[in-house]
Amino acid sequence: MDLKDHIREIPDFPKPGILFYDISTLLAHADAWQVTMGRMAKAARVYQPDVIAGVESRGFLVAAPLALKLGCGFIMVRKPGKLPGGTVTHTYQNEYREDTVEIQDNAVEPGQRVIVVDDLLATGGTMSASISLLRKVGADVCAAACIIELGFLKGRDAIDVPVHALMTYD
Ligand code: PRP
Ligand code: MG
Repeated sequence: MDLKDHIREIPDFPKPGILFYDISTLLAHADAWQVTMGRMAKAARVYQPDVIAGVESRGFLVAAPLALKLGCGFIMVRKPGKLPGGTVTHTYQNEYREDTVEIQDNAVEPGQRVIVVDDLLATGGTMSASISLLRKVGADVCAAACIIELGFLKGRDAIDVPVHALMTYD
């Protein structure tokens, strides 16, 4: 199955000149979503992860079912100010402004193998910040995975672990 058939391409969103790759149509199609998660699980299983980390918010949609499929725990990398209890943050510069990601300080046991999952890799800023954050709380980040990679933005060059993408747009 060509999963690109289930990605809707929307011009000029969120602003003029940007072509938005929408996963809503993939999520809404039961068979295509099953195939997507099967392929994610196949790529991820190789790393024998203990934990799957999802990046808020669309990354949660991919990471939580992946964790369930692999029999792993699921943890959340969130936008700031959402998590109760002790937290750790990491601030980074994205294309337009400074941004922060946050995680609970007890999210992983030291040395646990973690795969970081998001729906889409663009500049790689979100993914590399999430990896730095996970390392601050003691994770052994073994891979990054996403459904869509915007290859022309070369986001994977900013990431120092293996990156798996189910589809790439150049
Ligand atoms: C999008 C996407 C990734 C990130 C990729 O999230 O879901 O998380 O951007 O961009 P980058 O590689 O350039 O960092 P967005 O911030 O739009 O928020 P959402 O997931 O909450 O919709
Ligand atoms: Mg996102």
